[in-house]
Amino acid sequence: MRYLLSLLAFLLAVAAASAQPGAGPQRAAFYEGYDLDAEAAFVESLLARMTLEEKLGQLTQYTGQWAVTGPAVPETGEDEIRAGRVGSFLNVYGADYTRRAQEVAVEESRLGIPLLIGYDVVHGFRTVFPVPLAETASWNLDAAEEAARIAAREAAASGINWTFAPMVDIARDGRWGRIVEGAGEDPYLGSRFAEARVRGFQGPTLSGLASDSTVVATAKHFAGYGFAEGGRDYNTADFSERTLREVVLPPFHAAVEAGAQTLMSAFNEIGGVPATADAHLYDEILRDEWGFDGFIIADYTAVRELMYHGIAADSAEAGRRALSAGVDMSMVDGIYARNLPALVESGELPLAVVDEAVRRVLRVKRRAGLFEDPYRYSDADREARTLLSDAHRAAARDVARQSVVLLKNDGDVLPLRRDLPTLAVIGALAADSVSAMGSWAGAGRWPETTPILPALREALPDTDVRYAPGYPAIPRAPFLEMVEAAFSTDTSGHDEAARLAAEADAVVLVLGEHRELTGEAASRASTELPGAQLELARRVIAAAGDRPVAVVLTNGRPLALSGLDAIAPSILEAWHLGTEMGPAVADVLLGYHNPGGKLPVTFPAATGQEPIYYNRKRTGRPHDVPGASDKYVSRYLDVPVEPLYPFGHGLSYTTFAYGAPTLSATEIGVDGAVEVSVDVTNTGDRAGVEVVQLYVRDEERTTTPPVQELKGFERVELAPGETQTVTFTLAPADLQFWGMDNEWTVEPGWFTVMVGGSSLDALGRAARFELID
Ligand code: NOJ
Repeated sequence: MRYLLSLLAFLLAVAAASAQPGAGPQRAAFYEGYDLDAEAAFVESLLARMTLEEKLGQLTQYTGQWAVTGPAVPETGEDEIRAGRVGSFLNVYGADYTRRAQEVAVEESRLGIPLLIGYDVVHGFRTVFPVPLAETASWNLDAAEEAARIAAREAAASGINWTFAPMVDIARDGRWGRIVEGAGEDPYLGSRFAEARVRGFQGPTLSGLASDSTVVATAKHFAGYGFAEGGRDYNTADFSERTLREVVLPPFHAAVEAGAQTLMSAFNEIGGVPATADAHLYDEILRDEWGFDGFIIADYTAVRELMYHGIAADSAEAGRRALSAGVDMSMVDGIYARNLPALVESGELPLAVVDEAVRRVLRVKRRAGLFEDPYRYSDADREARTLLSDAHRAAARDVARQSVVLLKNDGDVLPLRRDLPTLAVIGALAADSVSAMGSWAGAGRWPETTPILPALREALPDTDVRYAPGYPAIPRAPFLEMVEAAFSTDTSGHDEAARLAAEADAVVLVLGEHRELTGEAASRASTELPGAQLELARRVIAAAGDRPVAVVLTNGRPLALSGLDAIAPSILEAWHLGTEMGPAVADVLLGYHNPGGKLPVTFPAATGQEPIYYNRKRTGRPHDVPGASDKYVSRYLDVPVEPLYPFGHGLSYTTFAYGAPTLSATEIGVDGAVEVSVDVTNTGDRAGVEVVQLYVRDEERTTTPPVQELKGFERVELAPGETQTVTFTLAPADLQFWGMDNEWTVEPGWFTVMVGGSSLDALGRAARFELID
């Protein structure tokens, strides 16, 4: 029998050293200096004065609505606040208005408890940053942290003190529209981005969370929402405890370690238990194991939806199940406030359960500084100065440029010459500012957003830039009409587009998805280019003949691009990049910025490969081992198993060469570590950024290992001809997995490390070491 090294002892030792049970060093540092005892005394004294109605009010959030003056609480809302029957609003913002709402809460309600004001500040507030999937393609944690910090600063000036972000759901299926909101498919990359974004929103310390430029973060959706069957939003998810621990939960744990104060329950069920009623998730894992002391908000009407899930006959039972499972605040449905008093009075719901939830909510209100100064977040002067400032726009442009991924560039089509006499820009999305903003555009405004076409015109004042939409522009219309238009197979614009392509000196062909095809409730059964766009590409590329054609994609998911890849020499993945999309894309197309982004998700060769992800299991019948059968292996008959563009892929206008990885030791003990070093050289004639990626494979263990797992990455900037040595450190804690005994475990044996510029590239550059006991 093999020796099992349990990491539990290690984790317990770390926990003992910190302020909270279950907390690691990062969280301990976050909490350092914050007086938890004073907080507890404050919360207890307030709780002791609250009626049951006021307690359940604190556990209730309602939504605002659009009023003449902007987003405000509904007509009856102020009465609810006054009566102490609501603890929070979402979808309400604006310095003046939120000040008014806080005044009602603080000055006109019996106990004067201020409101938490929440909003989906997901990728920017008024200055819109790239959609999170795009931003993750930068593999730049500092950029993500800075984007979140700016978003927080803007939102906080407008009265928001709580954001429903970051979304940290791992998603392996490009059909799922919400893949756009997260960090992609990988738990390691997702964890690092989760931490960076939480830090950006909340700042580095709990004491600092009360500042006027930070907001409380929410890691969502807890848990497994990205595993919706068939990629269909809100659908059932069913996966093992092992997948939960190894794949789904790591980014949540990372967010909690970074200090995230709230989590949001997921809409989906997992294996028969809706997440919004799953005590295993909240009480056992989050609170008992991880020592989380913030609170859980249910997703929008998710408590009421327990009835549709079929586990509650009425609202009261739905409320009882959710609150008893540890979901502290209900969103929108008002069930806690309305239906739970009777259950408490009848003894069906212990008052202690309510009290505990109220404690958690009051705690976070106090941590946000609301009891100290409820108006801190609502400052009209700061709002006027801060929102969409030049500095914020410049930062958005910078992050946007870093988010672009050069998928292919045969014959060096890109960068384009800057002295083109004529340029044809084809594709309605090139002129679409609404889509450029992306799926959760905060308080972003389309007239303040620059899409690709005007930016290219501005960047090329001496070029005759001609434009043809090629496919229909999407009208601003009811949702289903927009969706229908986005899938339109109308080819009437193709002739004009082909004519322009035949006459211009170069072509920029913009294809992809309108933003309504991405995000919540925007799943697609096919992830190919929508409508007749591929046909348009064929016409345009044929008409252009020898002239350079650069395809620019703007979309929110990994698309299935084999048809396009077969005909397009150059493809730039530009996603939905926000307010500064156009200038950022122009910077890249014209070579002012050398692209360095890498895919945070696998791009399939065909939709039918979904879910497809690089850290797959080998199976007992691999297709890619020597001597594999022609038939009885795990593959498809009609499409390859391999993706079109692998996880981690992305080219540059320069080229990089890797040396062989070297190890500081070929044998390490359980308290040892191995250093993995590799030389990376810029072999081209431009400066460029390369994201050096480290992968590991456990060669043998008691549960099946993935073929490779990302364990580290570093962005290096290299001048032409420059070489840098990149060194990663791997310790046994980095090699742990969820063992047969349902705890984190590392087993001795051989490990293969792989280093390269993508998951595929790294497979060819390996070294091995042995962990000994
Ligand atoms: C539903 C979404 O699932 C969630 O992510 C969002 O925060 C809430 N609506 C509030 O807008």
